Formats: sequence, C-alpha cells, structure tokens
Amino acid sequence: MANQSVTEQVKESVDIVDLISEYVDLEKRGSNYLGLCPFHNENTPSFNVNKEKGFYYCFGCQASGSVIDFYKEMENLSFSEALRDLGNRAGLKIKYKQESINSKDLQLIKMHEHLVDLYHEILTETKEGETALNYLLDRGFTLEQIKREKIGLSPNMSDGTIKVLEKLGYSKEMMYQAGLVARNEETFQYFDRFRNRIMIPIKNHKGRYVAFTARALGDDHPKYLNSPETDIFHKSRLIFNLSDSYKVIQDRKEVIMMEGHMDVLKVKGTNIKNVVGTMGTSVSKEQIEILKRVTQNITLMFDGDKAGKNATTSVGEKILEMQANPYVISLPSGMDPDEYIEKYGSESFENYIKENRDHFILYDAKEKLKDSKDNDLMFTENLNRSIQLLKYVQNEVEESRILRGLSDLYEIEADLIKRQLPKRKEVRRQKETFHRPSILNVTSREFKERHIIHTFINDKSALETFKSKLDSELFQTEGYYGIIKNLVEYFSEFDTFDKQMFLSYIDHEQLSNLERILDTDLPILGESELNDYVNAISGMSSSSGEKNKLIKEIEQAELIGDDTRALELFSQLIELQKSPKSK
Ligand code: CTP
Ligand code: MN
Repeated sequence: MANQSVTEQVKESVDIVDLISEYVDLEKRGSNYLGLCPFHNENTPSFNVNKEKGFYYCFGCQASGSVIDFYKEMENLSFSEALRDLGNRAGLKIKYKQESINSKDLQLIKMHEHLVDLYHEILTETKEGETALNYLLDRGFTLEQIKREKIGLSPNMSDGTIKVLEKLGYSKEMMYQAGLVARNEETFQYFDRFRNRIMIPIKNHKGRYVAFTARALGDDHPKYLNSPETDIFHKSRLIFNLSDSYKVIQDRKEVIMMEGHMDVLKVKGTNIKNVVGTMGTSVSKEQIEILKRVTQNITLMFDGDKAGKNATTSVGEKILEMQANPYVISLPSGMDPDEYIEKYGSESFENYIKENRDHFILYDAKEKLKDSKDNDLMFTENLNRSIQLLKYVQNEVEESRILRGLSDLYEIEADLIKRQLPKRKEVRRQKETFHRPSILNVTSREFKERHIIHTFINDKSALETFKSKLDSELFQTEGYYGIIKNLVEYFSEFDTFDKQMFLSYIDHEQLSNLERILDTDLPILGESELNDYVNAISGMSSSSGEKNKLIKEIEQAELIGDDTRALELFSQLIELQKSPKSK
C-alpha cells in the first residue's frame, strides 16, 4: 500500500532518538535510551527508546509507538499530519494523497509567514504604522518586544492583503481558506478580513505561523478579531505561546495560563516566561491534555472580573478531573495581568506571582466562603464541595497541605474533613485492578502459555531444559512463540532477564504481549509443573471429548473468576494428560 511505504520511509529517515530528545532528556542505557516519560508524571525513568527498532515504550504507563506516534502525541496531530510534518523534516517528497494536503497546508503557512513580515514592516517602518506603533509603546511594549513578537499592522484597505498575496501567486480561494480574506456569500466578492488592526501572529506548537488575532485600534468593534478555524488552525487544540515557552515550562514545572494575548505578550517581557494564552476564556480538554504533557502544574491567572472568575472555576474543575494540579493566582478586582504590570511594574508583578499562588481547591473555598460566612446551609454545602474536589487529588503530601488549608478556612479540624475522604489504600487498589490485565476473559490455553513464558523469563535454565520442545504448535496464542524465540536469543547472551535490555530483542508489536506476560502475578513453575503444563497445552491442541469438556469448564471458571475451581479442574486435566501417552 502506498501509505504503508510512506510510513516506513518516514520511520527510516527520522532518527527516533534525535526526535524524542527534543522533548525528553534521554540517557543511553545498554542498547536503549532511557528518560522520564512525557506521557505521565514520574520521578524515576521508565520511558525507553529503542533506536534500532525505532520505537518507544514506557513501563510506567504503557505508552508506546513509533517516531510518528510520538510526534503525533506530543504535537497533538492526526497521524497523517504527523507523517507529513516528519516527512518534511526529513526532506522526503511524500507522494499520493499526502502530497496535496501537505503542500496545501504548507502554502497556507507560507502565506502567513509572508504577511507576518509584511504587517510587521508596515507597523515598524512606515508612516502608516505610526499611530499603531505609538499605541503599543504607550501600552508599555518596548520596540524590542514588538520586534521579537513580530507584531504588525494590517493595511487600512479592503484589498491590501489580497493584492499582496495575488502578486505572490495565491488564488483568492486559497486566501479564503487561510482565513486571511473573507467573502460575501451572495456576490462572491472577496475582501481583506483584517483592516487597520494590530496583528498579533499566532504560532502553532512547532512555531509556525498559522493565524492572527487582530486588535482594533481604539474603540472599533469587535475589539479582537481572530482567524477562523482552518486546516492549519484548530482553536481548541492550540495554546498561544506554547512553542516559545515549552522549555521554560518544563524547567519550572509550572505553566501559567492567561486569557489575553496582550497579557501573555506583556508578561513575557518580565522574568516570568512560563506563560501561555487560552485564546479567550474557554479551555478545551485537548488543551489541558497538551499542557499536561509538559507539566502537571497548571496555574490559572485569569482576569480579575466576573468572567475571569467563572472561567477559573470551570477550568480548575476540569484540570482536577483530568488528574492534573490546578493552581490559581487571582488578580486584584478588575485587573488583568497586563494592567497590573502597567500599574505596578514588572518586579511587583513577579513578587505577586510568588506570593499569591493558591491551590485551586483553597482558592475555590475562599471564594465560596466570602459569600456565606454566616449562612450555615451554604457553609455545609461549600465544605462538601471542597471535599468532593479534594477526592481528585492523588498526591498525599498535596492532599495534606490542602487539608490544613481547608481546616483553617472552615475552622474545623483537618481530621474531620479527612474522614470524609475515601481511604487512600482503597483508591489505590482499585486503580491497580483497573490496570492489571486480569485472567478474566483470557482463555485457559493463553493463560497457561503465559504462565510458562513467565517462568522462562525468570528462569533461564528452565528455558534451556525445555528448548527442544518449544515450537509454534505449542504456543498458539498470537505472538507468544515469537517472544519465546526472542527469549532464546536473549538468553544466549545474558544470564538474567532485564526488561530494558530485552526491549532490543523484540519488535514493537510484541510489547503488549510482553507486558501482559510480565504483569502475570504467578509463581514460577518448577520443572515437573512445567512438564505438566507443557503436556497439558500440547494435549489441548488434539484433545479428546473429555479434555475438551474439562477445558471448557476451566474457561468457565476463569471467566467468573473462580480461580480455585479452575485450578482444581486443571489438575484433573493434567491427570488426564499423564495417563495414556506420558513417557
Ligand atoms: N477576545 C476575543 N474576542 C473578543 C474579545 C476578547 O477573542 N471580541 C479574547 C482575546 O484573546 C482577548 C481575551 O479574550 O485577549 C480577553 O479579552 P479582554 O479582557 O476583553 O481583552 P484584553 O486582553 O484585556 O485586551 P486589551 O488589553 O487589548 O484591551
Ligand atoms: Mn487588557
């Protein structure tokens, strides 16, 4: 298939270790590379990259895939988008369907790149730009900042942009699809979407220009006009300024999220660089997912007005539900970050940030309590709400810190609140059973094959003893015989099993099988038991009616989780095997 070969081509030309290193610090361990998993929160590295075979695998969260999958996840792209971008990086000419999408998106981006430069020039180098430039300087932006951010001004004409792009050879339809021009649906006349506005370029997460947000000069309406949704601009997936702040966010282990583009730009001029913008107040789950991959600690610093407060509440809840840590820095009433900096200066702003960060749950409780100090009914309701929110907090240290805060706020003992929470252990155990592939709905045969391989993994000598008997007829579960072969190969070089080392011996497709086997919580079989097991499954493939019946019953028992019964039946089965043809 055409797509298949493109995929293979990309996998071959992009070095997975190089690419992943752009996101994760990797260290070479044996033939693998090891680092902290970007897909879940961890302190000890369990994220492996196999350079030769071209895949990554996390022992902590089981995330796995090829270089394309990794890129797709990190950049939140579709598979074909990831394929296309990586193909471009590697300088591949991707043929078939991909090419048209690919070159079209690239054209849309090129149009933006061109206009960013043009608008910037108009703002900073022309007479026409003076008023707007002074407006920005008056607002406290420095020329240096304006240049760095490539802020611009769109011409005050209905076809200025159109003419420029036409000269470059773009069709009006293309301009329309880029969201740069609008059209009258009745007359089909095209005209510039952005006229006489301050143009703030919006970069996607890879730093390519894909859209604009355009502020009116003075009191024109609407105050902000944004690019519409296009093939290269997906509002619910884009986070403003992420491409510039990514590294600092990783270092600081915190991202500060604001409502306004101007706010983000202004704050970037202080020493606080780990800032991003929401593109307005609604924050999507996808945006939170993306941020979570960079850091779990998401601090909301929305405007100090009613809308900002409402947004803080709903976004904070969403972040909690998504198992990340929301914090809030609430601004003095009626202020946004930009105004704060203008009024009190950068240094004061930096201090404000240091001193006013609350966990969202505490912020929320304070807000609610403001209105209900003397109202008993509300008081109980609020306390219950705080407890409900606290249930989402996974980290015990964090939980106890919040508990102490709540205890102060509500003026009741922390223990009293704690008693309302589910017991830690229960929560944890639930999680474990959720993740662990159970023996339920696994056939008896697969279960035994697994148990045997599990034993071999832990006992090289057992594998050697049985080596001659092991073939694809014995291991019928898909992929299991492959693992056996890999194990034999592996043990010809090593004496003990090491997960990380073993990764270089298996193919990516085998990972889930391996994980399943490693996760089997079973005792290591002794030699005679192994013998019985091997006989049992070889008997299964040519089983008589009686055996079949037993096997069915075993499967039934396993299905309902009656392990004792299953084991009992199983020993009967082994007896049956032994009698006629055992040596
Ligand atoms: N917004 C928008 N469209 C509007 C108004 C607002 O997309 N018509 C978004 C913009 O991203 C804006 C944010 O909502 O930055 C917050 O709006 P607002 O507080 O009204 O604007 P400010 O950011 O304070 O803008 P400025 O300081 O330039 O007045
Ligand atoms: Mn503002």
